Amino acid sequence: MIKVAFFDAKPYDITSFETYGKDHDMTFRFLETKLNEDTVELARGCEAVCVFVNDDVNAAVIDKLHEFGIRLIALRSAGYNNVDIRAAFGKVHVVHVPAYSPYAVAEHAMALLLTSVRRIHKAYNRTREFNFSLSGLTGFDFHGKTVGVVGTGKIGRIFIDICRGFGMHVIAYDLFPAKDSGIDYVPLDELFERSDIISLHCPLTEETRHMIGEASIEKMKKGVVIVNTSRGGLIDTAALLEGIKSRKVGAACLDVYEEEADVFFEDRSGHIMNDELLARLISMPNVIVTSHQAFLTEEALNNIAETTVGNIRSCFDNDGICNNELCYRCGDIEHCKKQRKQRCF
Ligand code: NAI
Repeated sequence: MIKVAFFDAKPYDITSFETYGKDHDMTFRFLETKLNEDTVELARGCEAVCVFVNDDVNAAVIDKLHEFGIRLIALRSAGYNNVDIRAAFGKVHVVHVPAYSPYAVAEHAMALLLTSVRRIHKAYNRTREFNFSLSGLTGFDFHGKTVGVVGTGKIGRIFIDICRGFGMHVIAYDLFPAKDSGIDYVPLDELFERSDIISLHCPLTEETRHMIGEASIEKMKKGVVIVNTSRGGLIDTAALLEGIKSRKVGAACLDVYEEEADVFFEDRSGHIMNDELLARLISMPNVIVTSHQAFLTEEALNNIAETTVGNIRSCFDNDGICNNELCYRCGDIEHCKKQRKQRCF
């Protein structure tokens, strides 16, 4: 029986993981708290930890996990910027769920965009109070507009297809452009200059942190709509707020926020909001914030549980080989041992 400390557990996780776990000889210690240096002790006695996007798996946490004899960090997310995979190398194996439903995220990006541009959030509140006025609800046609997609991986490409369905002209930027994809790649600055709508679908790395900031906003069209369903750190929030206040940015649709770890996923309605920046953003009529919910569909939850349980099982089976293992040099053709030994270390 593999014992797994499951951090940041939510009711919807528990249902799906219990279903898949029992067929794989696995028990979960469901913990409401997030994993960090203060809570790592709760993992003692387990063989693996299962973490989500706001668990802070830094080098100190990894050392503790290693000391407790924990062999595996199983991310139940695609993104892994919250795990110091360099520090984990040689100590604790790291696995993730590369794709669970790219459709869920791409569709949510479009849902936010439509809501924002067609003022559905405003109309919904008005008609509930029998206010049938249309003043201030004017949107714009998507048809014929230029959308700039940053990151053309699994989610970005589905988003591109959705946009094309609306008759939008799509331009894109990716550090590694996909060959023969029919995607119109342009340099990032050109994307900023030409796009009516910009949607972010690249990972958060040192290179991409604050890619939307004062300088890039300066280059954008007046009234640009910015959509971020990727990672909060891609946007310098203070600069975005200034862009909104100056009317340069026409609207922002945010499913992620750089300081989300302290607030997202929790009911904070009875509390005073200490995050002034987030409070100010939410107060804006042209900003829509959802709390990292883009992934949240039934299909995605089932895929996450099934793949994560499968990942854990593979790592504890005889050869310990898991195709979804990660390390800081994964994908580095020259140095990645996985190509030869099928394990990262
Ligand atoms: P993916 O790995 O399939 O695609 C990422 C793309 O970004 C790749 O084409 C890659 O070449 C490109 N890229 C890498 N570095 C770049 C750079 N510096 N500039 C521009 N492009 C760069 O990943 P996928 O599945 O499409 O996910 C994208 C992101 O969506 C994830 O990194 C994750 O942060 C986020 N995500 C958000 C969710 C949510 O619930 N809001 C759920 C799942 C993922």
